[in-house]
Amino acid sequence: MLKDKRILLIVAGGIAAYKALELVRRLQDQGARVRGILTAGGANFITPLALAALTGDKVHENLFSLTEESEMGHIRLARDCDLVAVVPATAHLMAKMAAGMADDLAATVLLATDKPILLAPAMNVVMWNHPATQANRALLEKRGVRFVGPGAGDLACGEVGSGRLAEVPDILAAIAALATPDQPLQGLRALVTSGPTREPIDPVRFIANHSSGKQGHAIAHALAGLGAEVTLVTGPVGLADPDGIRVVKVETAQQMLAACLKALPADVAVCAAAVADWRVKKPGAQKIKKVKGAAPPVLELVANPDILATLAALGADRPGLLIGFAAETEDVVKHATAKRQTKGCDWILGNDVGPESGTFGGDANTIHLVDSSGVETWPALSKDEVADRLAKRIALALVARPPRPGKGKRR
Ligand code: PMT
Repeated sequence: MLKDKRILLIVAGGIAAYKALELVRRLQDQGARVRGILTAGGANFITPLALAALTGDKVHENLFSLTEESEMGHIRLARDCDLVAVVPATAHLMAKMAAGMADDLAATVLLATDKPILLAPAMNVVMWNHPATQANRALLEKRGVRFVGPGAGDLACGEVGSGRLAEVPDILAAIAALATPDQPLQGLRALVTSGPTREPIDPVRFIANHSSGKQGHAIAHALAGLGAEVTLVTGPVGLADPDGIRVVKVETAQQMLAACLKALPADVAVCAAAVADWRVKKPGAQKIKKVKGAAPPVLELVANPDILATLAALGADRPGLLIGFAAETEDVVKHATAKRQTKGCDWILGNDVGPESGTFGGDANTIHLVDSSGVETWPALSKDEVADRLAKRIALALVARPPRPGKGKRR
């Protein structure tokens, strides 16, 4: 995903510096070429030899080294790359960047570069929360510098809180998003459900609903367009399979659940399918005959598994970002808000599916996005526009989200 991208990696002073070495390997696995700068502080934690051995290149340390300047001047170093990543970024280096200082090679390169800059801070929780550090972070963000992490958890200093270096897979995902801005979901996996399910009454009849799959398929297409590796699990629809997407076709809710579980792990799952809540307890093995004069058959229904709620309750295998839809015919926001709670998803997209709305099978949709911070109502949009907007929101959330303590689920 980072084939031939040139990453300039600045390793500053902090106990987390050793993780920069692992990052070098992971970047190379993705096809990137890495060049290293080691600050004086960084050299207290890892050796120039270790960094040089892994990058397969000379490690740059000194601003005023005649040899280094004659081989490659600091300006060329700052420009001959696609992205500058600082891992770990210290409070001191952030302060120098904010102040525009250029008193060593790392600070000078950061001032001289015209390439995207990503900082992965790591420091003591009090240092990170200090108003000076937070003011520097805000200023740097305003200038376009991007951050990944820090995460929260046990810190090397023995204290607990924010300040832990983001996990290497999260730094990798953030680098990929910055280095390939049109493909921010590169390297991430998405699961999308779409269409109706069909619950058999007998071999020729079934219970279903009006879902056409247009919304779910559009979302799968939009996520793939941003670089995600998408699995689309779909009920029976009359739509062509979207290009470049793994499509799994199912009929029933039980089959849909099994296919979703098989598609995990996923960084994001969007459940847009209109899954039947109930199925016939004992579908007829043969076509149920209409017997003249006999009363119509009574169908006994049983509850289907709730796919969204099952994914939400998975624990370690839960998709990193889990998004449901709420199809309502009245009080859309109220019911969507309640469903988000009962199903345990992160976001839910409420939409009106009453007969007047034309949402089922139509080309337009009006979305009420409910998340932990409240409700955001989108204007009426085409289903493709809803999908594009949602995919961009997902990309923002996945790239900006500080890693959760412990293992991340991104690959
Ligand atoms: O397919 P289209 O014609 O384009 O129409 C799009 C749509 C209206 C189907 C879509 O926008 C939509 O609202 N999808 C969700 C339909 C639905 O089943 O809503 P619900 O409120 O009943 O379910 C809430 C959530 O739980 C949904 O994410 C649903 O996928 C999920 N669910 C429901 C039941 C069940 N047994 N398992 C589930 O996972």
